[in-house]
Amino acid sequence: MSKNILILPGDGIGPEIVTEAVKVLATLRDDFGLDIDMDEALVGGAAIDATGGPLPGATLDLAKEADAVLLGAVGGPKWEPLDITIRPEKGLLGLRAGLGLFANLRPAILYPQLADTSTLKPEVVSGLNILIVRELTGDIYFGQPRGVRVLENGERQGINTMVYTESEIRRICRVAFDLARTRHKRVCSVDKANVLECTELWRQVATEVAAEYPDVALSHMYVDNAAMQLVRNPKQFDVMVTGNMFGDILSDAASMLTGSIGMLPSASLDEHGKGMYEPIHGSAPDIAGQGVANPLATILSVAMMLRYSLGDAGLADRVEAAVSRVLDQGLRTPDILSQGMQQVGTEAMGDAVIAALVAGA
Ligand code: IPM
Ligand code: MG
Repeated sequence: MSKNILILPGDGIGPEIVTEAVKVLATLRDDFGLDIDMDEALVGGAAIDATGGPLPGATLDLAKEADAVLLGAVGGPKWEPLDITIRPEKGLLGLRAGLGLFANLRPAILYPQLADTSTLKPEVVSGLNILIVRELTGDIYFGQPRGVRVLENGERQGINTMVYTESEIRRICRVAFDLARTRHKRVCSVDKANVLECTELWRQVATEVAAEYPDVALSHMYVDNAAMQLVRNPKQFDVMVTGNMFGDILSDAASMLTGSIGMLPSASLDEHGKGMYEPIHGSAPDIAGQGVANPLATILSVAMMLRYSLGDAGLADRVEAAVSRVLDQGLRTPDILSQGMQQVGTEAMGDAVIAALVAGA
């Protein structure tokens, strides 16, 4: 039976990069026998403009029915003046919560062709292959109480709550340990157990889960040290598992090791492997509409979709190989441009990936 994919272009560069990823999906459908159909819906600022809210009920319903969701990016200066409860980002958070997408996989892989575009020395980052497993539906992002209140003395007070139940910690740790088994069998759990009780519990539960995986080595690291180690010696890491907010921050840091945040895909999975796939970069309003955004993170998100939700690791490998071939050819969007390489725009980059995909068949 054909699998249904919901396409959510979103805002800023979202529509441009998603267009290229949809072209890749269409090629896989037409030339490689991938049995899919695609629907498109509104999310984020685009949905606010059309319907008044960032996550229309129709979009959430379609997302619930779909086998997988491909999302571009949401947000932009146009919607920043809005109340925080109805900003574009709430559409993304609503999808994550509404679909139960608790497991966010953010691989940071350095393509050897891009070793000299990282701001770190090539010897520090060459061969880098880290997987950050970020919990995505809990923590301070969703904890109650939250908000801004006025105290008796008239002063305003802002409140957010870091909260995790042990079952939430256990299930994300199991995802990390299962994935470590397919890699180098090392998990580093990141917390702030020296200060925060919530993450002291995180450390205890991670240790309990490790007992189920005697073949996987668990280490613990405080988040401040983890941020430092990521830029000091990132290759020490295999799988990192952490909470929602620490994972948000560390995955941006990790992305820079690879040369450009424009290269990094992500998967957000529920208990059953259903997923939403998105580049980890944002909507980049400063370059939106110029045709210069890097579509590779979104195309690589399609590869993750093939692997985790569509059960076609073979096609996932082919998409990843096509991206690698295009980099071999010296084609670069501005964010990954270096000496002697050929600068191309969003559309030319997408076309080149498709050509490499077809040529490699
Ligand atoms: C990310 C983004 C989102 C987050 C924003 C856009 C809500 O930074 O996916 O990392 O904080 O999770
Ligand atoms: Mg982020």
